[in-house]
Amino acid sequence: MVDLSVHLGSLTLQNPVVLASGTCGYGREIALHLDLNQVGALTIKGLSYDPWPGNPPPRIRETYAGVLNSIGLENKGVQRFLKEDLPFLERLNTKILVNIWGSREEEYLKVAQILAKVERVDGVELNVSCPNVEKGGLSFSCHPEVLRQLAGKVREIVKKPLVVKLGPQVPDWEATIRVLEIEGVDIISLTNSFPAVSVDIEAQNWFFARKVAGLSGPAIKPLALKLLYDVRKLTNLPLIGMGGIIEAEDALEFILLGATAVGIGTANLVSPTRALNIVWGIEEYLEKKKVPDLGSLVGKVV
Ligand SMILES: Cc1cc2nc3c(=O)[nH]c(=O)nc-3n(C[C@H](O)[C@H](O)[C@H](O)COP(=O)(O)O)c2cc1C
Repeated sequence: MVDLSVHLGSLTLQNPVVLASGTCGYGREIALHLDLNQVGALTIKGLSYDPWPGNPPPRIRETYAGVLNSIGLENKGVQRFLKEDLPFLERLNTKILVNIWGSREEEYLKVAQILAKVERVDGVELNVSCPNVEKGGLSFSCHPEVLRQLAGKVREIVKKPLVVKLGPQVPDWEATIRVLEIEGVDIISLTNSFPAVSVDIEAQNWFFARKVAGLSGPAIKPLALKLLYDVRKLTNLPLIGMGGIIEAEDALEFILLGATAVGIGTANLVSPTRALNIVWGIEEYLEKKKVPDLGSLVGKVV
């Protein structure tokens, strides 16, 4: 028997496999295919205060090794989530993280205030890669001072574990990680998708109405590992590593490089039961290597 449990600060997961935001809906959708009680945690689709329609279609384009998405953060808003989905989530035994976003600081704070009081929510994850309308549409992660204020104010509201999710668009990693530490963020998750574009050669136009989409899936795995490696050198905060994980072997690369837990995103879209194969594969690896607990593998590759 091996121990797959991991500790992300005060948040303990029964295993390191976390379903990434936006790829498992509000929980109920993926539960038709997958026993959610067997994953370490699920992360709810990014919620805003008001319902948000997202981008016009087309929203998805496959690439040889991944997927481009331009969903545009469509979601039902926090109030409808609580009414329609929370009762189902109350019956689960796994951990629930709720990913939140806003186009202004005050929008994040309003969602945070609501979720802070919901007992079933085990942690809040801030998506700081979304456009900040007060800064001309550049993401919150593009300005360490803007990020510091946001993280600090959410921290005052949310007493449960607070995760900040970063993407590749961080101009100054050192300053960014520093402000997250100063403001008392508990966990960093990375990476969000990579900005990317595609052209429709029939229409001789951009494929996506917003031109720039997000690339995820196996294409980004080595890039995501490099980001994790860079961030690992800058902080001792626990990390949730993600980007292109399809097999247990991919997850183990992230863990050996320093991720305490791993996020599974695009793989859920290909096969909604994939996360379980990853849990079992990690277990088999520990048995094969005669490692009694997963924690001892975290960051072994320095
Ligand atoms: C269709 C889709 C929707 C996503 N929605 C969100 C979201 O709402 N909030 C967020 O922080 N990340 C979102 N992501 C990013 C994923 O959670 C993940 O960080 C990224 O896809 C990299 O992991 P992967 O390569 O395993 O997919 C989304 C990704 C996809 C493919």
